[in-house]
Amino acid sequence: MADNPEEIKEDLRAYLEYLQSAGIEALPRREHSEDEGISPPQAASPNVQTLEMIQKELAGCKRCKLHRSRRTIVFGEGNPKATLMFIGEGPGYDEDVQGRPFVGAAGQLLTKIIESIKLRREEVYIANIVKCRPPGNRNPQPDEVKACLPFLFKQIEAIGPQIICALGTVSAQALLDTRATISSLRGKVFDFRGIRLLPTFHPAYLLRNPDGKKAVWEDMKQIRAWLNELL
Ligand code: URA
Repeated sequence: MADNPEEIKEDLRAYLEYLQSAGIEALPRREHSEDEGISPPQAASPNVQTLEMIQKELAGCKRCKLHRSRRTIVFGEGNPKATLMFIGEGPGYDEDVQGRPFVGAAGQLLTKIIESIKLRREEVYIANIVKCRPPGNRNPQPDEVKACLPFLFKQIEAIGPQIICALGTVSAQALLDTRATISSLRGKVFDFRGIRLLPTFHPAYLLRNPDGKKAVWEDMKQIRAWLNELL
């Protein structure tokens, strides 16, 4: 490992060039984290838990106040080895009742968005920042996000996707540890622990603002192009 400033600068320059060649145009600014490091792509560690182990660990979870009003823990679903993950905000009414992510009106739109790039819903993995429904569909609060996020990180490690699409403000802000707006983040490529992360508008936002669909279509075309490169 380099220990003089010139070598460190050279290593950093080479790593940034590698990210650029992989299509990554911007890196997240860590506003709250003490860890300022950029993590290179990681090989699966022997300590990676399986999705079943993570789900078991979450059974009956009372780590935050959302447990008081939830019906079900919406763990996530899809291909356990998906190349592409979609990450939303948190379950709504329908998801809480059915125990599955994105099954309500926004979910139906997400399914269409997935199919628009010639994928089936079952081929990707769909999860949320928080796994229990915030009462009245309010945004999850920082303490709730903090309690739940480690489980999402473990899911990401277990699945090992090459691309993450963050759906909406809450998802993009939590994953990138930023307070930037979704409008300023969407369409840009970020590095999340060596994985390409592309924020886009949330399908629920598109239901209220159909004009945003054009931007989401651009983002989906970018994802399709990456998938074509990877296949
Ligand atoms: N909105 C989300 O962010 N997630 C869901 O699972 C459903 C709606």
